[in-house]
Amino acid sequence: MPITIDEGRRLFTITTDHATYQLGVHPLGFLMHYYYGPRTDGTDFSYLPQYRDRGLSPQPADAHDDRTVSCDAMPLEYPCQGSGDFRTVCLRVRRPVEGQDAWGCDLRYAGHRLLDQAPCPDGLPVMARPAGSGRTLQITLRDQEAGVEAVLYYTAYESCDVIARQAVIRNIGADGLTVVKAASAGLDLYQPQPWDALTLYGRWAGERNVQRQRLGHGTFAIGSTRGASSAQHNPFIAVCEPDAGEDHGCCYGLLLVYSGGFSIQAQRDQFDQTRLTMGMDDEGLAAVLAPGGSLTTPQAMLVFSAAGLGAMSRRLHDAIRGFLLPKAPALRPVLLNSWEACYFDIDEKRILTLARQAADLGMDMLVMDDGWFGHRDDDRSSLGDWTADRRKFPDGLSGLSAKIKAMGLKFGLWLEPEMVSMDSDLYRAHPEWVLAVPGRAPHSARDQYVLDMTNPEVAAYLWEKLSRLLAEDGIDYVKWDMNRNITEAWSNTPGRHGALLHDYIKAVYALLQRLTAAFPAVLFEGCAAGGGRFDAGMLACVPQIWCSDDTDPIERLAIQYGTSLAYPACVMTCHVSVSPNHQTGRSTPLTTRGIVAMAGVLGYELDPAALTDRQKDEIRAQVARYRDIAPLMMEGDLYRLTPGPDETELVGWMHVAKDRRRAVVSAVATAVHANAPTAYIRLAGLDPDTMYAIEGRPQPLSGQALMAGGLPLGEVRGDYPAWQLMLTAAGED
Ligand code: DGJ
Repeated sequence: MPITIDEGRRLFTITTDHATYQLGVHPLGFLMHYYYGPRTDGTDFSYLPQYRDRGLSPQPADAHDDRTVSCDAMPLEYPCQGSGDFRTVCLRVRRPVEGQDAWGCDLRYAGHRLLDQAPCPDGLPVMARPAGSGRTLQITLRDQEAGVEAVLYYTAYESCDVIARQAVIRNIGADGLTVVKAASAGLDLYQPQPWDALTLYGRWAGERNVQRQRLGHGTFAIGSTRGASSAQHNPFIAVCEPDAGEDHGCCYGLLLVYSGGFSIQAQRDQFDQTRLTMGMDDEGLAAVLAPGGSLTTPQAMLVFSAAGLGAMSRRLHDAIRGFLLPKAPALRPVLLNSWEACYFDIDEKRILTLARQAADLGMDMLVMDDGWFGHRDDDRSSLGDWTADRRKFPDGLSGLSAKIKAMGLKFGLWLEPEMVSMDSDLYRAHPEWVLAVPGRAPHSARDQYVLDMTNPEVAAYLWEKLSRLLAEDGIDYVKWDMNRNITEAWSNTPGRHGALLHDYIKAVYALLQRLTAAFPAVLFEGCAAGGGRFDAGMLACVPQIWCSDDTDPIERLAIQYGTSLAYPACVMTCHVSVSPNHQTGRSTPLTTRGIVAMAGVLGYELDPAALTDRQKDEIRAQVARYRDIAPLMMEGDLYRLTPGPDETELVGWMHVAKDRRRAVVSAVATAVHANAPTAYIRLAGLDPDTMYAIEGRPQPLSGQALMAGGLPLGEVRGDYPAWQLMLTAAGED
């Protein structure tokens, strides 16, 4: 059993394959955090926290002046404001007292249960339940006088070393309760050692760069107040020992299963203890709970690795693939997308020409991106009017898709359902459907407004429009885009304005889940102006997300390297585009573009008419090769062989099949020099005792040799050269 309970000592131990997590109840009822680290069976870690008179730290009244008891210094599982804890807390509430708002509560242990089921997700995406009974621990904390209860859930995923946490905040008798912060999880790393934090920051067309920094005293915080997880910060943090690297050192990874705004804090306190909190955005939160009402927080995945960042990533990848993603084949259709080929300049003739070329190049699907509906000749109009523009498509979408299918291709379509253009029939008919504060004109961005997804009329309209498209127009794939953030968190329908941003994203999930359930054969891809909503919440609804609008392969090295810290290859869509690249103007070889795009779900986004015959042959070869290696790359283990591109001129990675019989090694040189050193790459993840045949090399080598001595890649010459080598265990074809 992964969860054991010592009823006498009120001690709860969660054990996964390589980690142990332990919590327990203090004599005064505080829920203490005792341990999270390498697996140790049968230890009671309650000896670790030291209770000392901290002078000015406050005592609760029932400590009867025992100065060693102070929530300001103790390691706690779900600290709350109002309990004498001056640090960053998990829960902050307000409740009316004598006609005014009083702050805070003082949560104490009230009971526990072992559950066979994960908590009710309340419209939020959550990991699938692990097999076996008794995998979820429920602990209830209560402040009867304040009328507040926090119910904490811990679910153990042994094989991937993940513990999923979630909290439900309830009003159990307050006249009215306003929740202004409710974290999904808190983690007190209370031994006074230094920690580094790795986070993923960015911007449009430059998402998920890695930032690593020492956590100093004070609070390091990242988050999003945009109503989306955002390109600026990703809802992920890794906290690791300062000398931790890819294959050594203790690391904690925290990943939020949520696509709305979020908040992550890492605080180092006066006693050098480090507290992590992770949850939904609290700057935009004031959720009013009537008596009996509750607020369910998103799920947070916690992973521990004593074997470095590489193992941390692989465990998260396994958890996402095994328990979060909707079912999808490892080999996704290789597609040609019209965006960078044509932008808005599309009509049936151009799309059919592209389709013919996609078929000729051996691809599986033609995706028609933006510009097909209403009168959308640029990005200023028509969102919401989801009917084909008959000027461009006289036979409508169904006519177009029939012609594409006759070529043996699938047909995919771009949509941006959550938005409405200022210039659209939908907005003219229903201006009250947008998020806007009464009496004030809302902000526009890209000439569009955000639809109030919490309004049932909006949800019904979108369901009607989109389900009809999917039912009638032969659509095999949908790219679900979202190109702006929420500026006005106000709904015209009666509801919880203070929780609007949270309710908004839940309504997006509801529509997506309804559509994906009704049309299981349609492949959905997430997108938000590139990777502006690239998170584990979306990945519970769609199996892949457009990584970034930046398709420059050298820029992509950093984006995909950062993304891989938390997310597996099979969720990152990556396209080969034209050279010089449209975003950067940089020229790169087609081979390099192909190798970089094959690190995820491969697609193309260029006009084949501009290609030479030789380039066309190369693309045909790339597509064929990708079909061969995709299952191994999508389902295998990722090993980052070098630091990220900011720190090295040779970026290398490899994917190893779970049975270690095959592997694919990839590397790209980002700089060249005259009379330069030879490039070598040392491999990882192989079976030391297996002999591997190496593509293009006469001599097989043992896994041990390849991991100890590595491989010479040779001379680095020309613009951005790249290598991709297949390794096959001797005796395999
Ligand atoms: C943003 C997406 O990321 C692009 O790929 C493209 O679909 C455009 N939107 C279309 O407007």
